[in-house]
Amino acid sequence: MTLNTQAITPHLGAFVCGLDLSRQPDAALRDALEDAMARHLVLVIQDQDLSPAQLRDLALTFAPPHLHHADDNVHFADGLPEVLELRRDAEGGHLFGGGGWHADVTFQKPAGYFSFLHARVLPPVGGDTGFASTVAAFNALSPGMQAMLRGMSAVHSYDGPDRPEHKTLTVTHPVVRKHSMTGAEGLYLNTMFVTRFDGMTPEESQPLLLWLEAHMTRMEFTLRLRWQPGHLVIWDNRFTLHYPSNDFSGHPRRMIRCATLEPN
Ligand code: SIN
Repeated sequence: MTLNTQAITPHLGAFVCGLDLSRQPDAALRDALEDAMARHLVLVIQDQDLSPAQLRDLALTFAPPHLHHADDNVHFADGLPEVLELRRDAEGGHLFGGGGWHADVTFQKPAGYFSFLHARVLPPVGGDTGFASTVAAFNALSPGMQAMLRGMSAVHSYDGPDRPEHKTLTVTHPVVRKHSMTGAEGLYLNTMFVTRFDGMTPEESQPLLLWLEAHMTRMEFTLRLRWQPGHLVIWDNRFTLHYPSNDFSGHPRRMIRCATLEPN
């Protein structure tokens, strides 16, 4: 089956039209979406109107869910533990995932896989989400830097006060990941959760980590999505970073999200 896709940049992202994902995809559509994800890493699927349960059912055809805690800004949509409603009201306040480039759930194993985000209420302007391809960023590094990074691992950690019992989650992942379908290599690093490189102190790690973040988020490796009603975005947390823009004070923004974990 062939999807109707239109690339957004040479390295990252594609618009997809002509689908109705309110019904669970059959095997052919699922394979086509997985193939498009491997090539584009971010899919913007247009003209969808999914309930939280439909979003969950779609996401779970690809992988098991990540179960997040609820807090003041994060509510379970329709009471479903797999689907979060991410709200920022007109009065302002916290924007879920705001404040830094990151990938979802890199601080555990299995780690974050595809995330599904569906627009419900959008500000008239603002609230865009930036995405960056860590594959394009890796490919643009010198052979010497690539070889050094292939031999390194990084410590990812999450100890938010909202964690049940304030438990810190910490894991070590290789800095370079290889895509099982395409063989592409990408940098698996983000400054939200990586605290240091394995075998180094945080102070020793920071300069290289910050340089790599600046490199990964260069204009050439990114796209900026201006959300439209009906957009459903799927991104691959293993090979992309994202950044929601907190620039829409005076207007509400509501999204529903289902994040999944790497299948075994
Ligand atoms: C997230 O960081 O998971 C949310 C992204 C967004 O709201 O644009």
